This record gives sequence, structure tokens and C-alpha cells, in this order.
Amino acid sequence: MPAPALPAPPADAPAPNPVVVAVRDVWKSFGAKTALAGVSLEVRRGEVQVIMGPSGCGKSVLLKHLVALLRPDRGEIWVFDRPVHALPDGELDALRIRMGVVFQSAALFDSMSVGDNVAFPLRRHRRLAPETVARRVAELLAMVEMDGTEALLPAALSGGMRKRVGIARALALDPALILYDEPTSGLDPLTARTVDDLILRLRRDLGVTSVVVTHSVDSAFRLADRLAVMEAGRLLASGTPAEIVASGHPFIKQFLDTRAIEVKRT
Ligand SMILES: Nc1ncnc2c1ncn2[C@@H]1O[C@H](COP(=O)(O)OP(=O)(O)OP(=O)(O)O)[C@@H](O)[C@H]1O
Ligand SMILES: [Mg+2]
Repeated sequence: MPAPALPAPPADAPAPNPVVVAVRDVWKSFGAKTALAGVSLEVRRGEVQVIMGPSGCGKSVLLKHLVALLRPDRGEIWVFDRPVHALPDGELDALRIRMGVVFQSAALFDSMSVGDNVAFPLRRHRRLAPETVARRVAELLAMVEMDGTEALLPAALSGGMRKRVGIARALALDPALILYDEPTSGLDPLTARTVDDLILRLRRDLGVTSVVVTHSVDSAFRLADRLAVMEAGRLLASGTPAEIVASGHPFIKQFLDTRAIEVKRT
């Protein structure tokens, strides 16, 4: 039996923003462990897409597929209309330049100063005069409220400062898409809020598309235009925060309740 036709959108409805990231039925296993079991997701330009779910549900694995740090066993990943799942390694650089990645651990180079960490992508991918690099680094650090910290070593920074330097480095090449893996984990609620505010400011001022992985229900609801909830490698639900709350799925309800209690306690 053919599927029933979807109702046509009203003629005067604004056209939706173009799709920047499309994940189609992606499967990934590590040995006997299935980390992703048929995940599909679309992210539109200028949106903050939050992916939440408990530890080990596959959030980081999903994010790593978007930059081809991991390759799917099955399924497709399209970013800026390029087939990431099928691109040979040699063609990935050109795509990765358009994406900023803030890793779960901040992943700064510990032996390099803050300034050199932020300058790293500029020196690698752009031919710029040293003064231009220095000016751009200062601008990026100011954007994350870390002005004047160029000479510090990462060891001298707090967790929140490290995250912010990681974000400055991810912004260096003016990416149109930024992926954040747990940008606020391990931060106190006030610092977490400044990082959330920064993510929202980048969306508002630069129009970037953001994918944010988080455990924090608090951050998720502050940030999300759209929210996806994962459990055990599967996407349970995806929609606006209001739609997710209204979905009433028992797992989602339980996850939101437990986390809300934890948020109150901190
Ligand atoms: N490189 C790998 N080799 C083997 N197993 C892996 C690898 N990467 C992830 N896994 C497994 O895949 C599952 C999903 O891992 P993932 O890192 O995506 O979890 P997560 O949702 O990001 O959790 P957390 O919130 O703790 O960061 C876990 O069971 C993990 O042990
Ligand atoms: Mg993770």
C-alpha cells in the first residue's frame, strides 16, 4: 500500500533553510558493540541542533562521523552537499576547513602557548603575514573573552578557559558549521552558562550552524532550536524542545526528570 501523501505546506510558508548536515540510516559497530543503529538526522543552516542522551549512547561517535574521523559501516553522511561517507581521505581537508570542531577534551596542544594553539589552523591552511595571524588570534581570543592570554600554556588554564580556547581555535577559519562535543561538561554552572551564551552569540552574530552534544538538560534547553535524544545508538526523538517534551516517550521523560533533579542539585 502506498504511504499516505504528506499535506502540502501552505503556499505562503517561508522556504525552510537549506540542509547543511544530513545523516541517513547510519550504522557503526566496534566488534560486537553496536554504537550507532540506524541514525538519521537533518540539520538546517543557522540552527543549533542539540544531541543529548546518557553516557555511552553514541553521541561522540555520531559527531566523529560528521568529520569522517570515523566511517560508517552503512548509511550516508552529507555535509554541505558533499558525501562525507564516500569521500577519499585526500578530499576531506577541503571540507574540514569549513567545519570547526570543539572536542570533548578541548584537545589543546599542551606544549604550545594559547596563541600558538589558536594560530595553528591559520598557519596550516592560510598564507598570512605573522602580524595578520597575531591580529586574528587576538580577535578570536577576544571573542571568547580570553583577551591577552596568548603567552599562557594550557596547563595554566582552568577547565572553562581551556574550553574557550578550544572554541577560539575551532573558529579560526570562519567555519560555517561548528561541532561541539560536551562544551560545558565539567564546568561550574556559571561558567557553563558563559560558554552557552558564546555558542548562541556565534549563531546570532555569524549565522553559523551548530551541532552541540551534551548531557546537560539545562544547556540543551538553553541552546536548542532542535533537539535530538539518543539512547543505545538510536535516535529516540527529534524536534523542537517543546515537541520533545510533549512526545511523552517514557525514556525521554525519565531522562529529563533525572537530569532536572541533578541540575537543581548543582
Ligand atoms: N574507537 C572505539 N572503539 C571501540 N568502541 C568505541 C569506540 N568509540 C566509541 N566506542 C563505544 O561506542 C559507544 C558509544 O560511545 P560514545 O563515545 O559515542 O558515547 P557518548 O554518548 O559520547 O558518551 P559520553 O557522554 O560518555 O561521552 C560506547 O559503548 C563506546 O565504548
Ligand atoms: Mg562523548
